[in-house]
Amino acid sequence: MYKSFFHLHSTPFADSPDPRFLVRMPQTREALSTLEYGISAHKGFIVLTGEVGTGKTTLLRSALASFDPGRVFSSFVFNPRLDILDFLEFILADFGIVPQARTKSGMLIQLNRWLIERFRCGESSVIVIDEAQNLSWDQLEEIRLLTNLETPTRKLVQIILSGQPELEEKLTAPNLRQLRQRIALWARIHAIADTEASTYIAQRLLVAGSSDRIFPDDAVAAIFRASRGIPRIINLICEQALILAYVEQLHQIPAPLILAVVRDLNLDQLPFMASSSHTGPPTSVALPSLKHPQREEGGEER
Ligand SMILES: Nc1ncnc2c1ncn2[C@@H]1O[C@H](COP(=O)(O)OP(=O)(O)O)[C@@H](O)[C@H]1O
Ligand SMILES: [Mg+2]
Repeated sequence: MYKSFFHLHSTPFADSPDPRFLVRMPQTREALSTLEYGISAHKGFIVLTGEVGTGKTTLLRSALASFDPGRVFSSFVFNPRLDILDFLEFILADFGIVPQARTKSGMLIQLNRWLIERFRCGESSVIVIDEAQNLSWDQLEEIRLLTNLETPTRKLVQIILSGQPELEEKLTAPNLRQLRQRIALWARIHAIADTEASTYIAQRLLVAGSSDRIFPDDAVAAIFRASRGIPRIINLICEQALILAYVEQLHQIPAPLILAVVRDLNLDQLPFMASSSHTGPPTSVALPSLKHPQREEGGEER
């Protein structure tokens, strides 16, 4: 409803992982290049971790979108709370394979044949598992076994596990030692820095069609404080602020309006607001660390 008022052709702060809106901040670029490198170099496992709302799904979608879909085939599992048969069936279906038999061995044989065919044609296959912190131990073991599908020279399928920091904890469990040894690349993303907030907001507005300075500096500062730099919360505040500003017929959004939105959304009550003392830029930038595949348990770099 506010789009024409602000000269926008699309919604600038929708909560969707749309690669068109990706703002390439330094940590975004690093994580993206880790994912893209992992896919193109056929590394075993790649892990992407970050807090809720920091941009993991958007990064995964953006990484896949940078490849030719006729050369790099992908299956994107967004709900890993499936039993193993449903899980395999979902992957097959996403790759466009019709399962001939709904048995684990039958589907694995079919998947293997299809992957070999892709390999022969010089094509790649990627399985992305989002929200991977929800995977059960059994599923993680089954997923590890998928990387046994290989030729003498390379893996037939690239697997990306993406999830919240609990995933990182889960992967340190002793029973996942074998899987952990196969993690070739690890990317981490964090909340954005206060100095990045205005670029983030301005770029999303630009993609949506407006180069107007709708959010002045003091409004951006208020948004950053309330969101702690979590992009999803920045989006939520900005979206509500645009609606309210439209109702009030304001072309520029004053900081008090942001404070009103933050109160209305109860963001000043959220636990992360009370517990975190982190006000500045991320304490460490997502340095995708190249993991030694044979690194022993407990020896990972963090
Ligand atoms: N680097 C970024 N550039 C633009 N928008 C981003 C970026 N990171 C996150 N977002 C936005 O924040 C919201 C949450 O991102 P999402 O990828 O769903 O987070 P996660 O999967 O980590 O919970 C989405 O609307 C997304 O577009
Ligand atoms: Mg997500």
